[in-house]
Amino acid sequence: MNIKVKTDKLKLWYGDKQALNGVSLDIYENKITAFIGPSGCGKSTYLRCLNRMNDLIGGVTIKGKVTLDGHDIYGVGVDEVAVRKKIGMVFQQPNPFPKSIYDNVAYAPLMHDMVKKGKECDALVERSLRDAGLWEEVKDKLNESGTTLSGGQQQRLCIARTIAVEPDVILMDEPTSALDPISTQVIENLMTKLKEKFTIIVVTHNMQQAARIADYTAFFHLGNLIEYSETEKIFVNPQEEKTEQYITGKFG
Ligand SMILES: Nc1ncnc2c1ncn2[C@@H]1O[C@H](COP(=O)(O)OP(=O)(O)OP(=O)(O)O)[C@@H](O)[C@H]1O
Ligand SMILES: [Mg+2]
Repeated sequence: MNIKVKTDKLKLWYGDKQALNGVSLDIYENKITAFIGPSGCGKSTYLRCLNRMNDLIGGVTIKGKVTLDGHDIYGVGVDEVAVRKKIGMVFQQPNPFPKSIYDNVAYAPLMHDMVKKGKECDALVERSLRDAGLWEEVKDKLNESGTTLSGGQQQRLCIARTIAVEPDVILMDEPTSALDPISTQVIENLMTKLKEKFTIIVVTHNMQQAARIADYTAFFHLGNLIEYSETEKIFVNPQEEKTEQYITGKFG
């Protein structure tokens, strides 16, 4: 199995408050890896380190190493915009741009000069919307604003927008927690399809969700990675007492 993303003793401070205490983790290619753990344990912080989103927050200090395909994403001369193109992100609240459905998907590929306006771009928009499972619902209204869609559709639009730039890795921070059960199921099914093409890392508070879709699960607690292995092992036979306590609902 190929290691896609690797962190080595990753530490992070917000000001003088340490939020990650040295997290070493290998993420495998074309798998879904879930991060679970109680609120405030550092899941989002860790996720944001993987595409340098924490660079955008003032007063943050990061130590340790993050590699994508063996290349240090914090290395000298590495362009963080290029990193974010390779490692895309989908957020908890669907956040389409206040633009048309078409433009939501076309914007980044045009900006990165991946396609020319017109037929080539149209084809990419269609392909991305198809891959995000949204095409049939929006093909007749591509010029309507993305914000007119339902929450679940907006989230699939955000996924289409993310995959349009052909990333290697998709980070998802609680992507279904603002959605109803049906939309959640649609997104979960979509994720299991998308892992054929992409490496997916998802933060979730929903342990059933992790158990349903994730190949690997990592349990975080107080800025530490407590346990990481095949999902089934985490839920059926955890090795650490803290993991067992968390998954059986004793805290968190
Ligand atoms: N921008 C920030 N500035 C200062 N402290 C922060 C910031 N973001 C997060 N923290 C702190 O870092 C710690 C980890 O937060 P983080 O958001 O990563 O947790 P989380 O596991 O994603 O929690 P949740 O499940 O509630 O989303 C918390 O103590 C939090 O208060
Ligand atoms: Mg979070």
